[in-house]
This record gives sequence, C-alpha cells and structure tokens, in this order.
Amino acid sequence: MNTPPLSLSRRQFLRHSAAAAALAVPTIHRAAAAGSANEDVRVAIIGLGNKGNNHLKVFRTVAGARLVALCDVDPQRLAAAAVKLKEGGAAPFTATDPRKILERPDVDAVVIATPNHWHALLGVWACRAGKDVYVEKPVSHSIWEGAQLVAAGRKHGRVVQAGTQYRSDEGLQAAAAWLREGHLGALQWAHVLWYELREGIGRTAPHVPDGLDYDLYCGPAPFEPLTRPKLHYDWHWFWSTGDGDLGNSGIHAFDACRWLAGATGMPRRARCLGGRFGVDDAAQTPNTQLTLIDYPGVPILIENRNLPSRKGMKAMDTFRGLREGFVVQYEGGYFAGLRGGGNVYDNQGAKLRSFPGDSGSQHQANFIQAVKSRRPDRLHAPIVEGHVSTAGCHLGNISWRLGKPAPVAECLEAMSLHPRAAETVALLERNLAANDVDVKQRPFVLGPWLELATGAEEIRAVTGADRPALATAQRLVRGSHRAGYGF
Ligand SMILES: NC(=O)c1ccc[n+]([C@@H]2O[C@H](COP(=O)([O-])OP(=O)(O)OC[C@H]3O[C@@H](n4cnc5c(N)ncnc54)[C@H](O)[C@@H]3O)[C@@H](O)[C@H]2O)c1
Repeated sequence: MNTPPLSLSRRQFLRHSAAAAALAVPTIHRAAAAGSANEDVRVAIIGLGNKGNNHLKVFRTVAGARLVALCDVDPQRLAAAAVKLKEGGAAPFTATDPRKILERPDVDAVVIATPNHWHALLGVWACRAGKDVYVEKPVSHSIWEGAQLVAAGRKHGRVVQAGTQYRSDEGLQAAAAWLREGHLGALQWAHVLWYELREGIGRTAPHVPDGLDYDLYCGPAPFEPLTRPKLHYDWHWFWSTGDGDLGNSGIHAFDACRWLAGATGMPRRARCLGGRFGVDDAAQTPNTQLTLIDYPGVPILIENRNLPSRKGMKAMDTFRGLREGFVVQYEGGYFAGLRGGGNVYDNQGAKLRSFPGDSGSQHQANFIQAVKSRRPDRLHAPIVEGHVSTAGCHLGNISWRLGKPAPVAECLEAMSLHPRAAETVALLERNLAANDVDVKQRPFVLGPWLELATGAEEIRAVTGADRPALATAQRLVRGSHRAGYGF
C-alpha cells in the first residue's frame, strides 16, 4: 500500500486501506467458450464515459453482438447508460465493480473503456476469466503491463483487439498495400502530429470526490486526493492515471503511421522534449511535446500541441494540410492522412492518388467477427500492435519525465537524427512565442535517450542523463500497482 497522502486524515486513510484490502483479486469463473458461429457474442462494457457510451451505440448495431452487461464505478453514469440500453428493450446486468462482470459466465467479451491505469489489469483479469477483450488505447499504463496483456491473451487463447480503430479504415488499408509496393522509392522519415486545443483544467484543494467508490476508481494507481475540479476525463493529465496527449491522441496517429511506414516491433530507442506552457493548473503532463522514436530506416517524430496558433484563438496550426494525422516521406513523394483515409502527393505537393476511408467505423464489427470465428489473426489491431504503439508513447513520456531544462541549441542537437527536427523545433518555438511563452525564460525540458534491450521490454541504457536515471526509467517501465490490484 502506498504512503497515505498528507492531506487525508488518518481515519480516511484507514478506511480506504481497508476497502482496498477487502477488494482482493476476485475468484473468477471461466466462461463458456464464446462465440460459436451461430450464437451472439455477449458483450459487457466496462467504463461508460465518452468512449464507453460511443461503444454502447456502436455495439448495439454490430451483427452477432449482444450487449448484456454494463459497468461503471460511477453509479450515475452506470444508471444513465443502463437507461439507454433498456430503451432498446434490453435488460442488462449492471455493476459498479468490474470484477462482478468478470465473474459472470453469461459474458463472453468485455470492452474496456476506463481510464488508462485500469486497461491492462482488467484485460489480463478478463483473459484469465475466459473472456475476449476489446481494450481502448493506450492499451496499458506501463510497458511491462502491456507485455503482460499480450502474454495473457496468448496463454488463455483469447481474442484481444486494441482500440486503435484507424487500422480498420479501408482507405488506410489500401494505402498501406500501395505504399508497400514501393511506388515512391526509398522511405526517409515520418512525422506524426496532433494539434488539439486544450485549455487549462484549473486546480482545487486536495479532496476525495463524492458519489462513487473513489478507492476503486483509483484501483491499481496510488490513492491520491484530487487536485482538479473535474474527476472524469481530466485524469489524462496526471501520471498516475493518464499518459498525456501523447498516450491519448498521439497514439492513434503514431500507430497508423507505424503500420503504413512498416515500422514493426519495439523501437530501438526514444527521447522527448516539451513542457506544460501557457496554462496555470494542477495538471502534470506536457501540453507541447516532441518525441523522437528511432526505428531503423525510419525515424519518427511525434508532435503534440495543445496551444492555439496564437494566444486567445481557437485555430490550430497545420503541417502539410493536417492538424491531426501523419506524414510518411519517401524519396519520390509522401503520404499524408489519418481521419477519413489520406492522399499521396509528389514532392511539390501535387496530389497523385487518394485513399478515402471512414476512420475505422467497422473496428467493433471486426472484433466480433474474430471472436465468432475464433480467429485472432483476423483482427485489424491485434493486441501486440497496440502494445508496441503504446510502448513507444510510454518511452517518450518516461524520457520527458527524466528530463531537464535545456537551451534550444541543445534540443536541436538532441533531435538531429530526424531530418525535420530543426524545422519542427523552430516552429514549436514560434508557436510558443505566439502564446506569449519565451523559451529562453521557460525552456523546453529535454529528456535522455532511452534504449531498449533487443526484443525486450527492458531499458538497457539511458544516455544524456545522470546514473540514477536508469533505475527511475526501469521503475517507470514496470509501473507500480497497489496491493490488491496485482497482475
Ligand atoms: N479509440 C478512441 O477513439 C477513443 C476515444 C476516446 C477515448 N478513448 C479511450 O477510452 C477510455 C475512456 O475515455 P473517456 O473519454 O470515456 O473517459 P471518461 O473519464 O469520460 O470515462 C471513463 C469512465 O470509466 C469509469 N471507471 C473508472 N474506473 C473504473 C473501473 N475500475 N471500472 C469501471 N468503470 C470505471 C469512470 O467512472 C468513467 O465513467 C480512455 O482510455 C481513452 O483513451 C478512446
């Protein structure tokens, strides 16, 4: 159990400790093998926020799927979602504790749309209970956790799909096949970008939110009082529950980019720079972040921006016509896209070919088809791919968390492996200046290179940082899990 936060009274802390201990890992009954060809796959959704409600809408329409159970630790959200399902004539089982869902033999598959710190743990528990799993991105909250989920899927023979739905986009599928035919010559580099305006989230005195079992909400994460006004969604911007915008939105475009560029397996190494600029709030994660992922043959930059083109505006900058997406550059031209597919251009920017798509609307249907046919090989986003893309984002975040303020010249040098790094850092500096941030006064935080051991989830070396950084990096690769919430 973690040290109690100072702001909680001893009585409050003891109450929460006892609650956590009582909720030990559940005894789980193995479900009957799911999804024979003629039967509906009985689906439960765990986590009914923005995304869980979207899944509720979509799974209702997927042939061969039947929503039978709903779970949210927040009883109000649970009740609101149950009403929607009951309006459609269903009578779902409901629970505020996901372990109650996993115990049920009449649930074949679970959709996990909780905050990130619960993803891999629930996924592993579900595999062990004989359920198939659709787990939202990022698929884990640490690299080690992701590896546990991949292993559990294999060990228990489960179908495990990552919620990186752009892999179900027919336009991107066609583009991937076309690019692999080599029409554009040698691959040079890739640039992933996600420019999405996000304002400050405010701050509050530390408090424990009412109306739900907050201890269960924290689950494997430390039991920390909230310092933000909004419980839901803003967990993205705290390291104990979220992974910043890199692991939130950036992963979508990075995952699709990796796929189209053919950057397979774990990256060799990664480093990151950035900061949380221009807002004064309780959040911890950067709102301006540049991550360099070193794949042999294709260095990939992932650029996340949350500040507008100019202070006070809503508009965001673009790169090669994109605000959210990726560019893969070849000798003879480039691909640019993500949402709704993408296009191939020559090096003067003239469009050569279009690959229109639908942003992956058939992703849930693809999952159900793979479950019914017991063919994980037919998944568009098998868990191992979700794990690799998630791991790249975790590497970037770990590098940044180990970083130190650095002058722009040092940042340029650090990122020089990528041909677009100098221009991108200069544009970031310009964007910050347009938001009244002077990087000479508030420098970027630059993290060290983190090098992974070949074929493993372990960090072999940390360069450009003090020696203790290696131990910290390894600790963050593993993640920490509260007693009662072990894998
Ligand atoms: N694939 C996509 O395009 C996409 C889009 C949006 C969100 N997401 C992902 O979906 C997940 C949820 O995002 P959101 O925007 O809906 O967040 P949210 O905060 O609105 O909703 C999360 C819900 O999970 C509930 N919850 C927390 N712990 C729980 C537990 N142990 N058991 C049951 N319920 C629990 C919360 O009470 C909350 O209602 C995130 O991981 C996010 O990255 C994916």
